[in-house]
Amino acid sequence: MTDEGAVRVLLLGPPGAGKGTQAKLLREEFGACQVSTGDILRRAAAERSPLGEKAAALMAKGELVPDGLMIELVAERLRRDDCLAGFILDGFPRTLDQAEGLEGILEAMGSKLDCVFSIRVPHDVIILRLEGRRSCKVCGALYHLVSQPPPRSGVCDRCGGELYQREDDRVETIRARLRVYEAQTAPLIDHYRKKGLLKEIDGVGSVEEIRGRMLQALGEVGA
Ligand code: AP5
Repeated sequence: MTDEGAVRVLLLGPPGAGKGTQAKLLREEFGACQVSTGDILRRAAAERSPLGEKAAALMAKGELVPDGLMIELVAERLRRDDCLAGFILDGFPRTLDQAEGLEGILEAMGSKLDCVFSIRVPHDVIILRLEGRRSCKVCGALYHLVSQPPPRSGVCDRCGGELYQREDDRVETIRARLRVYEAQTAPLIDHYRKKGLLKEIDGVGSVEEIRGRMLQALGEVGA
């Protein structure tokens, strides 16, 4: 743990790497807040807020929402009280400009990152994971038709909510998202390696195995 007993980590990885799955587990383990920019944008889109209207069209094409909007959104989220106990950043930053924006936000808060996980998963595994993903409309719980099937088809066993397939989980959009990841987000791996914050995680294996790899790596950085 850090001096204040808070864990502050960032999860990097291609679409379907398991960032959301692992972020939820780390949130439970450490009582930290999970800042998932994809979830925030999907909520905004469902509410048809001005941000949501703008984001929905870009997300459907697998493109990124502009950096300025994302930095503002995360700055506001990280300043809320529930992030005092630490935070798990899931899906932000996604560009070098966003990474610089994050550094500014954390500096202004007198905070810093403990560790950046880069989760590596081959593209063929990603396609299988995303095609089979189902999410709960109400609580956001994640399922997979093969690896983590819901006990009752189409129904979340945590809250009874309806399960749905994300619009951007169609093969063509998945391929577009992977291209965007390689071009705009993958350079962050080197950025954080140079800062000495990077921990590479093999993302192939069971959810529990990957969780174990992350907890071990956090132990090594003293978080
Ligand atoms: P976002 O929602 O962040 O999507 P993503 O990064 O593409 O990641 P995913 O949510 O698809 O995958 P994941 O890595 O979380 O995997 P998961 O745990 O769900 O962003 C969506 C869009 O929003 C972007 O395209 C962009 O338009 C916009 N956006 C978001 N942030 C932005 C930003 N910062 N800047 C600009 N635009 C932004 O797992 C996937 C599936 O695999 C699940 O079914 C799960 O059950 C299963 N699974 C997980 N782990 C395992 C395992 N170990 N074994 C077997 N199955 C597993």
